[in-house]
Amino acid sequence: MLERCPTGIPGFDELCDGGLIRDRSYLIAGPSGSGKTIFAMQFLYNGAKEYNEPGIFIATEERPQNLRENFSVFGWDLEKLEEENMLAIIDATSAKIGLPTDEKYVDVRPFDTRSLIDNIITIQDEIGALRAALDSTTAMGFAMQDPSKFRVELLKISTTLEILGLTTIMTAEVIESGMISRFGVENFVTEGTIVLYYTRSENVRIRSLEIYKMRGTNHSKKIHPYDITSEGIIVHSREEMF
Ligand SMILES: Nc1ncnc2c1ncn2[C@@H]1O[C@H](COP(=O)(O)OP(=O)(O)OP(=O)(O)O)[C@@H](O)[C@H]1O
Ligand SMILES: [Mg+2]
Repeated sequence: MLERCPTGIPGFDELCDGGLIRDRSYLIAGPSGSGKTIFAMQFLYNGAKEYNEPGIFIATEERPQNLRENFSVFGWDLEKLEEENMLAIIDATSAKIGLPTDEKYVDVRPFDTRSLIDNIITIQDEIGALRAALDSTTAMGFAMQDPSKFRVELLKISTTLEILGLTTIMTAEVIESGMISRFGVENFVTEGTIVLYYTRSENVRIRSLEIYKMRGTNHSKKIHPYDITSEGIIVHSREEMF
């Protein structure tokens, strides 16, 4: 039996026999506003709070301070987790856009995967992390231009994190609901792909998700609705979209 790493996201783990497979990397693909960042942070937050597993969040598109503020709305005190060494947020945004930062963990060479991996190794030594989130891969893809190079670099990152014993969620922004990656390569280098849909039905938008692929396990093949509530994501695992 492969060991599981539950996301703790209500309704999700039962769609895949109890959670993600430990020490593997997963892609969450979805359009802007679909809930990728929330899914990724909820995975780390639950890991810290419910399973006593520290996590590393790599923020390539949002400043850590914005994340702390946005998630405080859910009642999640990220700063407290950071003080307790249960969470580390790497600021991989500021250097990229030439802004100063007083964050504790900063990726000073944001387009260099080796420096990112070194950073992760150092932090893992420090806090004993078991989970990671890379939000998002899309900026890296744009920086590298060549999809084949991006594919190799992503494979390097996902494989290294697996060897380090980190169960990882990587996000990918897509332009259209239903696409599984932005550059057509991201899904190949991860052990599983979860697709978030954000579709319009008459005058409302409906959120739903699908486990598109998950190697090494049985999983639901259906599309299930989910909500973003004042407590984060809730998946309605017994309901289906049609
Ligand atoms: N407290 C809340 N209650 C309900 N919905 C919320 C709450 N906070 C955020 N949301 C919803 O979550 C969305 C943001 O989710 P998130 O940041 O995870 O999206 P994303 O997929 O990462 O988008 P992007 O690709 O632009 O980064 C908001 O647009 C809003 O619809
Ligand atoms: Mg996001």
